Amino acid sequence: MQNSEISLQVQGLCASYGVTPAIRSVSLEVKRGTIVTIIGANGAGKSTIIKTICGLVKPTAGSVRLFGEEVTGLPTHVLVKKGISVVPEGRRLFTKMTFKENLELGAYARSDRMAVRRDLERVLNLFPDLKDRLSTVVGRFSGGQQQMVAVARALMNEPRIMLLDEPTIGLAPAVVDRISELVVEISRSGVDILLVEQNAEIALEIASYAYILEAGQVIAQDAASTLAKSEAVQKAYMGI
Ligand SMILES: Nc1ncnc2c1ncn2[C@@H]1O[C@H](COP(=O)(O)OP(=O)(O)OP(=O)(O)O)[C@@H](O)[C@H]1O
Ligand SMILES: [Mg+2]
Repeated sequence: MQNSEISLQVQGLCASYGVTPAIRSVSLEVKRGTIVTIIGANGAGKSTIIKTICGLVKPTAGSVRLFGEEVTGLPTHVLVKKGISVVPEGRRLFTKMTFKENLELGAYARSDRMAVRRDLERVLNLFPDLKDRLSTVVGRFSGGQQQMVAVARALMNEPRIMLLDEPTIGLAPAVVDRISELVVEISRSGVDILLVEQNAEIALEIASYAYILEAGQVIAQDAASTLAKSEAVQKAYMGI
């Protein structure tokens, strides 16, 4: 069944590395206009879900639908053209290239160079601190700034949905706050968000719906505000 209110629908997704299963029958969805989060500890399978959705890991079972279209197992560059953007774990920037070159690489799938130039302006408006540093080599930026570059690069693809893999990990609290504000701002501008996080506090604060992943399986799901109040969640994921 097609449902135009659902941007991303994952059903019964399984993936393995060799013979070891990493995710088992994961089902989740992102509704239009929402921020959805997947919370899980180290090794729970969060990155594997993102990689399997975007064609970097082959699913052994299950399906992925993007804007109502079956896209299971399609290669990343095809999905990018369909409006998905990924901010990968560990950022994966070209640290020897400039900020501007990194942004231009984010738009590689687009052919309208005029529109890309306009978008460069629009995207830069979200990053006032970095606006004047287009010709700086990204390796000279701080960790927080590099994370901003990774988000900016993902925006250059004009995404309709963005998948973010632990964008706040290892960053100072003030930078974490800035990044979570940025994610909310991007969501408000009309981009749907799937956010994977170990930092449950931040994720549950900005998301409307959340899934909890343990050992490759979704063990709970609910409105983020409800999970944030759950004693079990607080104990396991929020250090309360
Ligand atoms: N390339 C790989 N080859 C073999 N096993 C892998 C590979 N990548 C991940 N795994 C294993 O799959 C399981 C899920 O890993 P995954 O990276 O998806 O977890 P994660 O929730 O993203 O963890 P983290 O919070 O540390 O990023 C783990 O047991 C991990 O050791
Ligand atoms: Mg990971």
